[in-house]
Amino acid sequence: MYSRPRRNRKSTAIRDMIKETQIGVEHLIYPLFVTNNPGEESRIDALPGIYRWGKDVVVKEVESCVKLGLKHFVLFPVVPEELKDSKGSYSYQNNNFYLEVIATLKKEFPQITLMSDVALDPYSSDGHDGLVEDGVILNDRTLPILADMSLAQAQAGIDIIGPSDMMDGRVGYIREALDEKGYTDTAIMSYCAKYASAFYGPFREALDSAPKSGDKKTYQMDPANKKEALREAFLDMEEGADMLMVKPALSYLDVIQTIDENTTLPVTAYNVSGEYAMLHAAVEKGWLDYESTMTEILLSIRRAGAKGILTYFAKDFAQFHRS
Ligand code: PBG
Repeated sequence: MYSRPRRNRKSTAIRDMIKETQIGVEHLIYPLFVTNNPGEESRIDALPGIYRWGKDVVVKEVESCVKLGLKHFVLFPVVPEELKDSKGSYSYQNNNFYLEVIATLKKEFPQITLMSDVALDPYSSDGHDGLVEDGVILNDRTLPILADMSLAQAQAGIDIIGPSDMMDGRVGYIREALDEKGYTDTAIMSYCAKYASAFYGPFREALDSAPKSGDKKTYQMDPANKKEALREAFLDMEEGADMLMVKPALSYLDVIQTIDENTTLPVTAYNVSGEYAMLHAAVEKGWLDYESTMTEILLSIRRAGAKGILTYFAKDFAQFHRS
């Protein structure tokens, strides 16, 4: 036998030397749910260890994450029902609590990366990502709302805008609106291949943002399709996206790899709420080991080609891998 692959696995030192994929806190983007209620720290049933943070206490939470080495955060607003309307107009209202949190965090922690979510659903009384009329999700009339929302976030100091709505043409529309107002340094990470997935359940519970009627299949992608993901990627690239995101991550590792191999932009992945909940359920049953399974999951997403990973595991990973 001339070839014995086991020789390269002989010791930890050798294994570490030839490792093809690295995973560290610098790759992780931690999602935070923020509310308008000072002092709030409420649990989310299907996301053990994840909380809705009041707009003041979220500062302490970010501080503790920064101490653990986390550098990147994505913020989601939990908007009370009475502030929702069909146009999601609270999203671009002056100094709404979400914008307030962006400004405060950027002031307290100028070194961190802050990412936003741009879509109507957290603010919409219909629970859809776009404007709804007679049961139809209107594409072109949604775009100006997304642009207003993005501008408000840019003004508050966000580093990266994250359009998660899947309307056609939104990346270009938002890019033009930002440039016109001088926000040429505000980046766009587009949720470019976002699938109509069953894995978003716990997130919708956290935000109370599930669609009031119908589903999201006329704008989010069919899980059966991969070529279509490339089409979305090319369009977002032409429209000026700085990074492309695939969402969810685990059932779509092939899509991450395909987009990474066929575009010149950094690809990121969203390891979504249902993927986090699944592991926690198995750990609670005593069927899987939390730390090693989580690390293997994150490593697999990196191996597929993702640079950054949005993941609810970020803080626990940082805690386990403290140097
Ligand atoms: C909303 C949005 C969703 C998620 C992120 N942004 C839900 C949806 O599209 O219905 C899901 C994230 C997760 O499940 O962790 N535009």
